Amino acid sequence: MRTPINVAIDGPSGAGKSTMARLLAQQLGFVYVDTGAMYRSIGLYAKRAGIGLEEIEAIVPRLPEITIQLRYTDGVQHIFLNGEDVSEEIRTEIISRYASAVSTLAPVREYLLELQRGLARDHDVIMDGRDIGTVVLPNAQVKIFLTASAEERARRRYQELLEKGQAVEYDQVYQDLLARDEKDTSRAAAPLKPAADAVQLNSTAYTLEETLERMKTIIGEKTQNVL
Ligand code: DC
Repeated sequence: MRTPINVAIDGPSGAGKSTMARLLAQQLGFVYVDTGAMYRSIGLYAKRAGIGLEEIEAIVPRLPEITIQLRYTDGVQHIFLNGEDVSEEIRTEIISRYASAVSTLAPVREYLLELQRGLARDHDVIMDGRDIGTVVLPNAQVKIFLTASAEERARRRYQELLEKGQAVEYDQVYQDLLARDEKDTSRAAAPLKPAADAVQLNSTAYTLEETLERMKTIIGEKTQNVL
């Protein structure tokens, strides 16, 4: 059997990573691994445990209580927190804040690393996150750093939340996004930054289809002799 192909997609919140990764995985027959969902699940656990955002380190001794699993039904990824499907519940603004907070803690990152690397060892994966090309899969055959302007990312996220029926204000979404960008790029543990060998793609002016085509071209070029 050939070595699994690993595609790492990193970038800031709302750049379209998960939409792209999901579509690419479907079309290429790869497993989609949404690492943000793992941080969100730990964030949800912390919130349910009554841990405040200002005392988030209190989650560290509780990590052994947490089991996270990805399962696929009809090609759709579901994430399970201690056996419970939390795929929907983790998609709120408050859990975005909790996810960002727990992701600053090195023991949390360490805890998820083995799960993430194990999946990439066993399957062709498209894995998206913040540190996939730099820390989790430094040997990934393909690394793409996907960006878009903050205004465009906030607009997309706002639209997505409205469609889910959540009551949100654009300004609040924009401010939250800037705060998360700042937190994700300035933290000491695995900050958001492009890997030296990542291809950078700015999707601000592209439609979803155009971005997808460009990403497929990059993957095709980097895996020419393998796929
Ligand atoms: O991609 P997302 O919005 O679901 O990610 C939620 C939070 O988790 C985000 O604030 C950054 C963090 N994260 C991370 O630090 N490293 C990853 N590989 C993925 C997400």
